[in-house]
Amino acid sequence: MRKPFIAANWKMNKTIEETEEFINSFLPMVSDVTGVDIAIAPPFTSLCVAAKLLKKSGVSLAAQNVFYEEKGAYTGEISPVMLLSSGCTWVIIGHSERRQYFSETDEIVNKKIHTAGKNGLDVILCIGESLQEREEDRTFEVIEQQLAGSLKDVQLDGITIAYEPIWAIGTGKTATKEQANEAHACIRDWLKKNREGAGEVRILYGGSVTPDNIESLMSQPEVDGALVGGASLRPDSFAMIVKGAVTA
Ligand code: PGA
Repeated sequence: MRKPFIAANWKMNKTIEETEEFINSFLPMVSDVTGVDIAIAPPFTSLCVAAKLLKKSGVSLAAQNVFYEEKGAYTGEISPVMLLSSGCTWVIIGHSERRQYFSETDEIVNKKIHTAGKNGLDVILCIGESLQEREEDRTFEVIEQQLAGSLKDVQLDGITIAYEPIWAIGTGKTATKEQANEAHACIRDWLKKNREGAGEVRILYGGSVTPDNIESLMSQPEVDGALVGGASLRPDSFAMIVKGAVTA
């Protein structure tokens, strides 16, 4: 049985003060919730303050990105070692916004996963097709390509996959529960065929998840949780999603 996992991806939102405000009101809302793992990925600038506030809360801290070298002359980049010392245990890698706006390829994603794993960070690897790829009936092909490229020579310990169809991100258009489950099943099949321990890997759905659709998504056997963007920016709506994941 895979434990549900709900992660907040704040993207480029929230100052240090706003981070404090969010965490101080969110933690009491979920203090009695059990049976679900929770992580929050604030921007880099809020990691240290978030780490202090989340200590002993049971809520994990994630980063939204990482560089694939441990240190050196890479102006503007952040290494896995720095993330660990800021209190992160997780890192999101390969988000479609990074692929789209920062030219991240599967090869770069793969290098990042290797360095993150070597340093003991758990990884949420994001994959998913564009609208055009779905319309051309290439969803499964794209998913398999991204898995093969991103997970080259990677074992599955510490890996969580987030299936995020690009057309559903920030658009209010959620994949139907059937579409999500079908894509997750395709991911699970690929993992089973190509890696050990595929049965334990959690596969999260991401793309316009809200308190209203979380239960229906979580009712699907292959949906193990969610990566939540917009609806994770308010403590009450994120808390409702966390609770919805347990009751589903
Ligand atoms: P969204 O973003 O929930 O705002 O669609 C999800 C994500 O990009 O991880």
